[in-house]
Amino acid sequence: MPHPFPPARLRALADRFGTPLWVYDAATMRQRIAQLSCFDTIRFAQKACSNIHVLGLMRAQGVRVDAVSRGEILRALAAGFRAGGDPADIVFTADLFDAATLDCVLEHGVPVNAGSIDMLHQLGARAPGHGVWLRINPGFGHGHSNKTNTGGEHSKHGIWHAELPAALAAVGQHGLKLVGLHMHIGSGVDYGHLAQVCGAMLERVRTVHAAGHGLHAISAGGGLSTPYRSADPVLDTQHYHSLWDATRRQAEAIVGHALGLEIEPGRYLVAEAGVLLCEVRATKNAGSQHFVLVDAGFNELMRPAMYGSYHAMSLLRRDAADAGALRPSVVAGPLCESGDVFTQGEGGVVLPRELPAARVGDLLVIHDTGAYGASMSSNYNTRPLIAEVLVDGAQVRPIRRRQTVDELLALERGL
Ligand code: LLP
Repeated sequence: MPHPFPPARLRALADRFGTPLWVYDAATMRQRIAQLSCFDTIRFAQKACSNIHVLGLMRAQGVRVDAVSRGEILRALAAGFRAGGDPADIVFTADLFDAATLDCVLEHGVPVNAGSIDMLHQLGARAPGHGVWLRINPGFGHGHSNKTNTGGEHSKHGIWHAELPAALAAVGQHGLKLVGLHMHIGSGVDYGHLAQVCGAMLERVRTVHAAGHGLHAISAGGGLSTPYRSADPVLDTQHYHSLWDATRRQAEAIVGHALGLEIEPGRYLVAEAGVLLCEVRATKNAGSQHFVLVDAGFNELMRPAMYGSYHAMSLLRRDAADAGALRPSVVAGPLCESGDVFTQGEGGVVLPRELPAARVGDLLVIHDTGAYGASMSSNYNTRPLIAEVLVDGAQVRPIRRRQTVDELLALERGL
C-alpha cells in the first residue's frame, strides 16, 4: 500500500539520520485510533511497536495498553501509563509467569489476563483479590500464517474452553477478582470467523454467570488485518464494532448489568504508519536473477523471512530525472544467510518484484512496517539496533538512537 511520506522528506531523513531507519507517521496512528474510537476501550498490543514515544502518543489519545513481559510493563510505566484505573491502564497477558514478572505484576498492581490455570494458582497464592481476566482458547483459530494462529488444539495460548470451570474454581479458591473474559484467535484473521468468536464468547459468559462469578468486561482481542497489498480488504470498523457491540448487549442480558467492551489491536494502529528506509548498496546478476542488495536485513525486518510476508516497496532514485524501466528484482539484505531476502513467499520461495532498475545510492522504502518491524529486530550478525524517528506534521522527532557495537560488547566484557 502507499506510504504516508513525500519522497523529498524521506531523502532528507536518510541524509540526516542515516540508513537503515524506521520512520513512523503520527497522523496515521491517530487516524487509526479514531477509527476504533467506537469501542469503550482500545488496548494497544504494544508488542507490535513498543517504543515508549509511540506508547506516549497512544496514551495521549486515550488508548490503554497490553503488556506481555516484565519489559513491556516497565515500558508502559516509562511512557506514563499508571498501574490501576478502571478500566486498567495496563493489563499483563501471558500463558505463564516467570518469577521476576510475577513480582513486577504484584509490585505495580497490574491486572493479569491469564492463559493458564497455573498462573491463577501462582498469582492467587501471593495476592488474593488481584484482578484477573481469563483468556479463553475457544477451540478454533485463524491467522495470516500458521505461526500467527492462536486458537485450537495446536496453540499454546489461552485456557482451553472446556477448562473454564476449573479456571473459575481456581479464581474462587484464591478469592481473585474476575474482571473479564478475553479471546484472541490470531493475527490477520479472516472475518468469516467473527460470528463464531462472538458466539463462543457468549457461551463462556453463560458459563461464568452460571458458576456465580461476577464479570465486568469482555475483550475482542486483536488480530484486525491491515491491507498489505492493494487487493487486500480494508476493515470495516463500524461493522466490526457493531457485531461485537451486539455480542456485548447479549452478554449484558445474561449477566443483568452493563459490561465494558475492549479491543486489543496491535498491527491495525501502527502497520501503515511505518516504513523501513534503506539504501541500495549493490546490484548484481546471477544467471536470470537480478539482485538489489540493501543495507537492511532480516535482523531489522523479520516478517518476510519468518512468514513469507509481502511488503510493498518503492524506489527513490538519487537522480530523480532518471526514471528507469521496471525489471524483476530480488531485494536482499547484508546478512550472511541465504534467507535474508525481502521478496519471498511462504517456505522461502524467492519472488522477484517488478521495480525500477536500481542503482547504488538509491533509497528503497519498505512499506507497512510500523507493526512487528522494529519490535522484532535482533542483533544477528552483530548488527546494532537502528534508529527510529516519528514524523508529526512538520516536526521530526528522533525517538530511538542507533545502538553501537560497543554497547553490545559491553554486555560480554568485564564479567
Ligand atoms: N492480543 C494478543 C493476546 C496477541 O497475542 C496479539 C498478537 C495481539 C493482541 C495483537 O495482534 P494484532 O492486532 O497485531 O494482529 N509477528 C506477527 C504477529 C504476531 C502477533 C502475536 N500476538 C506478524 O508480524 O504478523
